[in-house]
Amino acid sequence: MTPFEAATHSDPYIYYSGLRRQNGLLFDADLRLWIASSAKAVEAILGHPDCLVRPLNEPVPPAIAQGVAGVIFGRLMRMNEGPKHLCPRMAIEPALASVETDCIANVVSRVFETLDNPVENLDELMFTLPVSVVAALIGLPSSRLREVARLTRNFVACLSPLSDSTQLDEAHSGATRLSQLFSALLSKGDESSRFLSHIWSGCEASAWTDHDALIANLIGLLSQTCEATAGLIGNTLVALHRDPDLIKDMQPTLTLVADFVEEVARYDSPVQNTRRFVAKRCTIGDCVLEAGDTVLVLLASANRDPYANPDPDSLLVKRTQRRIFSFGSGRHQCPGQRLALAIASEAISAWLHLQPALSAHPYRWRYLPSLNGRIPHFYREQELSNDRRYL
Ligand code: HEM
Repeated sequence: MTPFEAATHSDPYIYYSGLRRQNGLLFDADLRLWIASSAKAVEAILGHPDCLVRPLNEPVPPAIAQGVAGVIFGRLMRMNEGPKHLCPRMAIEPALASVETDCIANVVSRVFETLDNPVENLDELMFTLPVSVVAALIGLPSSRLREVARLTRNFVACLSPLSDSTQLDEAHSGATRLSQLFSALLSKGDESSRFLSHIWSGCEASAWTDHDALIANLIGLLSQTCEATAGLIGNTLVALHRDPDLIKDMQPTLTLVADFVEEVARYDSPVQNTRRFVAKRCTIGDCVLEAGDTVLVLLASANRDPYANPDPDSLLVKRTQRRIFSFGSGRHQCPGQRLALAIASEAISAWLHLQPALSAHPYRWRYLPSLNGRIPHFYREQELSNDRRYL
């Protein structure tokens, strides 16, 4: 197995533990990259100032560099270091932190009502709901939420090296339309939502006036939400399918759901890995990394490192001092962690509320093709043969 295959393997965790036993940071000569698998190595790489989110000579992947999706990509805080990272982060992070849990619950239940049969149609629950919730919080009108969820899904295809030219064309069109929608929203000033007025205040406080970068980073909030939160909801459903007794435990006490979702985020991370690019020679532990080297950072493996989480291979709803690497760490650590966990647990609670008994409707699942995301696609046996995702 390679670490890229591991992301969508039915059980990658034995493979990860083998890597950790060899060495928490090792060089794979076949793949020609470093692999960080222990909690210590993952934290060290993500915290190192010379391990950057993009290669110095390639700020935007060549496959998308000539289109609108590439322009948006090049302005995302996620894909930059220095001021192009810090300025949007300083404006947006406090706004994300300010959204109250009750407000998230209200927006989730409003959006849940508009979904097309979310008990059976799990794509609606996993993909349409989270992006719609974030778009609604930003202030996009309810009449546009479904369209925005679809456009975001098209746009995120530009982030995957597995996408074909049709998907990349759709990603460029998605980026164009999302930019228009956000441009129209921003032209209304700060009346659209509390969240947006919080961002405006952050922009003013830090004297950050790059309007185009703000639009790109609002699109970034949707794209960061899209697949990762779909994966978190999906992997929680997988855990419930594997142990249907949990549903009985949880239905009367929905307060357990938040703990359960958080433990699934650790146990079966929707983002299995991320990458870093070495800008200057640096020493991590006893390894010397050279400028130009690439590091594959196995977040999902760090979650299962016994030094970070005792008894790591048990799914413990009431785990104490849980350490989660699924949201990264260091300067690019996910600012949407609390929001993502809240959206996912509200979504699962709403689904459990409507779901009388799982065993009567067993699903099967396969993971969507990806080199780093772990997102199950649920199906009934007969649906598989015609599904283009597996051809
Ligand atoms: C389960 C859901 C989510 C997971 C697992 C997740 C995971 C991550 C990870 C691993 C990173 C860091 C990547 C790296 O350092 O290489 C990240 C960054 C980021 N995430 Fe999330 N995320 C989730 C949901 C969200 C949501 C809901 C939002 C916002 C609405 C969000 C916004 C961001 C942003 C803006 C960044 C870039 C931060 C920076 O570069 O400083 N994420 N996320």
